[in-house]
Amino acid sequence: MKTSFTSLLALAAVATALPSSESSHAKRACSSAVSLDASTNVFKSYTLHPNSFYRAEVEAAAAQISDSTLAAKAKKVADVGSFLWLDTIANIDKLKKEVAAGVPCNNILGLVIYDLPGRDCAAKASNGELAVGELNKYKTQYIDPIVSIIKANPNTAFALIIEPDSLPNLVTNANVAACQASASGYREGVAYALKSLNLKNVVMYIDAGHGGWLGWNDNLKPGAQELANAYKNAGSPSQFRGISTNIAGWNSWDAEPGEFASDPDAQYNAAQNEKKYVTLFGAALASAGMPNHAIVDTGRNGVIGLREEWGHWCNVNGAGFGVRPTSNTGLELADAFVWGKPGGESDGTSDTSATRYDSFCGMSDAYKPSPEAGSWNQDYFVKLLQNAKPSF
Ligand code: BGC
Repeated sequence: MKTSFTSLLALAAVATALPSSESSHAKRACSSAVSLDASTNVFKSYTLHPNSFYRAEVEAAAAQISDSTLAAKAKKVADVGSFLWLDTIANIDKLKKEVAAGVPCNNILGLVIYDLPGRDCAAKASNGELAVGELNKYKTQYIDPIVSIIKANPNTAFALIIEPDSLPNLVTNANVAACQASASGYREGVAYALKSLNLKNVVMYIDAGHGGWLGWNDNLKPGAQELANAYKNAGSPSQFRGISTNIAGWNSWDAEPGEFASDPDAQYNAAQNEKKYVTLFGAALASAGMPNHAIVDTGRNGVIGLREEWGHWCNVNGAGFGVRPTSNTGLELADAFVWGKPGGESDGTSDTSATRYDSFCGMSDAYKPSPEAGSWNQDYFVKLLQNAKPSF
């Protein structure tokens, strides 16, 4: 990942001066080993941890905002729990720093496991560091070190999102050569991650795309089968809870009619919002023999009706922060609304000359200019804040 100036500042801030709220958090860390029961909704008893990496990004962003009212609102974003993306081997350091800073006993640290060989096979913006075939490196230099850190911190609770987009791509993009080449590595890599990370202080969710992806009537069954195979190949791990949906996505939780309900194609997709998707796909998962509870990303879905097409995914223009993490979803199958994508980090560059330029990031509904995926986009952060619903 391209390291922006802001993220260097952010790292320095974490290393040198932990905010006082963080050091007092450290004092309230659990005094005994955490044991999570994945047959229950752990988000009922744990709050998603506002990690210090996103806190530092947001505080640096707030410091750049001259309007004091808006800057004060920006600072509040730092207190929102969100997932920490371990998107490279080097970024496993973020996890080390976070556990060293201390996670309060009633908080759960959210991590995104995201470094499969041949990552992002149907797009370009998030192509990763490992090439197809580097599965051994994925296992020994990426998954195993994360396992060691989690084992070394038995008093901390962890919620994991496993490999966004990977298995959904195998279901719907099997005609893409890069996805064909990646398929066996994805399947074995995801099963290895699920098996190795099956630790008492962990609860795991495997990524299931969103309603506009595996939600198509014809995709529900093959999608559920693909995910259930991974779960079974991992030995049906006890700490496995279900799926993550809408990660880095834009879909509404319960808009009626759904955002794309008037499209002629809508007749082929009954999952017109994420609530319907979690329900329909959840039923397909149950039939396929897999735990089916869900967490849903509401980080950037505050405003809907912005995309020209359902499949548009890059830096959607006009978006706003959505509902804050909560276990009050109103649907038993949905454990929690979470912030998966850290709002303010880009989905992909709009620089047409970049190696990872993806045409979706140049579409008319994509915000431009935007930096490389994962890098901070100050202007976009400000717009998410101004358009936040509920507001800050
Ligand atoms: C990027 C990652 C980044 C993540 C969260 C992904 O699109 O590829 O590098 O960590 O988004 O911002």
